[in-house]
Amino acid sequence: MATIFGLSGSLRRASFNAGLLRTAAEVMPNGSELTIGTIAGVPLYDADLEAEGTPPVVLTLRDRIAAADGLLLATPEYNGGIPGVFKNALDWIGSGPGAKIFDGKPVAVIGASPMGFGTLSAQTAWLPILRALKADQWHGGRLTVSGARKLFDADGNLTDDETREKLRGFLEGFVASL
Ligand SMILES: Cc1cc2nc3c(=O)[nH]c(=O)nc-3n(C[C@H](O)[C@H](O)[C@H](O)COP(=O)(O)O)c2cc1C
Repeated sequence: MATIFGLSGSLRRASFNAGLLRTAAEVMPNGSELTIGTIAGVPLYDADLEAEGTPPVVLTLRDRIAAADGLLLATPEYNGGIPGVFKNALDWIGSGPGAKIFDGKPVAVIGASPMGFGTLSAQTAWLPILRALKADQWHGGRLTVSGARKLFDADGNLTDDETREKLRGFLEGFVASL
């Protein structure tokens, strides 16, 4: 059983990106599964705080990433880049004893936005960060979901069959690469 751990970079209740991950869990290929975590509760990175002890929420995220065969990031886009809360969470996870967590870890990035380019800039912004973390980025597919207001309901659930099928195909490719 191939296991993927999924994280959304949004704290919003009706987040499109969290909704995209929920659908991903439903359309995973046979013989694989996606479990979903959260960055909620991760404090702002502070080396002084870290010196007192890594927050349990960060330790949990490290454990779950380490245990998974791959990591799926569903990234929102803010001002042409990665939302600070998402980058902050990855900085925590990869800090200190977490430095090896991403080393060689297969990682794929997807994202949804109400705007026209579907998080293309944010996904591109992840490239140097994942390289710095020594992750094994998967480039065999691309999923940029634009115009999200028409594709998700008010609770952030994906309602568009075409996007669902694109997501299914993306995941088939990622899981096959593991
Ligand atoms: C501060 C801020 C900046 C944003 N900048 C962009 C942007 O550059 N490109 C974009 O596609 N959407 C941008 N958006 C809109 C987000 O894509 C939108 O809020 C989206 O719903 C966030 O993802 P979520 O639904 O998972 O929370 C921005 C939103 C905020 C709050």
